[in-house]
Amino acid sequence: RRGASLADFAEKIGVDPASLVQVLFHLGEMVTANQSINDETLQLLGAELNYDIQVVSPEDEERELLERFDLEFGENEGDEDDLMPRPAVVTVMGHVDHGKTRLLDALRHSNVQAKEAGGITQTIGAYQVETEVDDEDRTITFIDTPGHEAFTAMRARGAKSTDIAVLVVAADDGAMPQTIEALNHATAADVPVVVAVNKVDKPTADPAKVRGQLTEYGLVPEEYGGDTMFVDVSATKGEGLDELLEAIVLTADAALELQANPEMDAQGVAIEAHLDKGRGPVATVLVQRGTLHVGDSIVAGPAHGRVRALINDVGESVEAAEPSMPVQVLGLTSVPGAGDAFMVVPDDRTARQIADQREARKRAAAQAAGARRKTLDQLFEQ
Ligand code: GTP
Ligand code: MG
Repeated sequence: RRGASLADFAEKIGVDPASLVQVLFHLGEMVTANQSINDETLQLLGAELNYDIQVVSPEDEERELLERFDLEFGENEGDEDDLMPRPAVVTVMGHVDHGKTRLLDALRHSNVQAKEAGGITQTIGAYQVETEVDDEDRTITFIDTPGHEAFTAMRARGAKSTDIAVLVVAADDGAMPQTIEALNHATAADVPVVVAVNKVDKPTADPAKVRGQLTEYGLVPEEYGGDTMFVDVSATKGEGLDELLEAIVLTADAALELQANPEMDAQGVAIEAHLDKGRGPVATVLVQRGTLHVGDSIVAGPAHGRVRALINDVGESVEAAEPSMPVQVLGLTSVPGAGDAFMVVPDDRTARQIADQREARKRAAAQAAGARRKTLDQLFEQ
């Protein structure tokens, strides 16, 4: 197991830790009993003592942990007969200040069924928009991401939990570093891209140039014979919004079969989480399968709890959240990390046990990192 010490290993194979220290010493490795050992040292020791060492990856470890409780994440969609169409999850990405948030605002206000702005919670970065394509009501889930270079990890996570990426490029600025970085994340995650060429109202806007630039990166516009939809929009003037929504729906219908089982216990991912003064830990989660209910016992990364309240994207308290719905969860005992998976488990006790195990693992990993640092420090002191 990652982060295990030499003493842990000695205990596992039933020998005196001191003897292992000696063996390693003769192999030219200075390791104390309480020090965590790295994979190579472990392999070395294994070879010397004729043990077959298998290093367990964090993913395997996590799978094994859930298996102990007869649970699994993601693999099982439950009864096929229960599968229902679900809204597309669309992540809005692009370079800083190219108008991602403004565009989302515009899309929400153009929404005929939108509730009044008064109760809108601005901290939640995920929203649902309703639109009509070919006389059919369609819901789309949008996740906003920051364009600042510091948020690479967030864009990578966003690309992973999404069905479609909308790449926002300001027509006056053109493709910039985070435009390309976002595009790379989407490509790596095998997510189809729709390009929103924004700020076309500006006198210096050059939408054709944006098309040319992105063509060089493999995003060839349909009008040039490629298969990527480019839509000219102005978030401030509210232009091109219906066309953008239509392009998203068409992309979803052409490339993806979006279904989920609303009947099973909910699973999904935490998009954002923070500690609120009055409400305690608040996590915005995206339900990916199943239905999340008030009263459910959940575990989210190393956090756990019982769902006390669910708040939707317009600040209303709701009883349940269905697949593709973003919702704020109240009732966790600590703050999960953004990107942590969450799942409903049978009871509070199970939730606590799983969370405790993850917390212990996290602590061990941090300790191991600390121990490594410490030995380095000692080295430099000499
Ligand atoms: P980050 O979240 O920091 O990455 O930025 P963002 O991409 O969300 O940009 P944001 O929506 O905050 O917009 C940045 C600026 O561009 C704001 O001043 C907007 O008013 C302006 N802006 C956005 N869309 C348009 C547009 O269509 N036309 C014009 N003229 N200005 C726009
Ligand atoms: Mg923004």
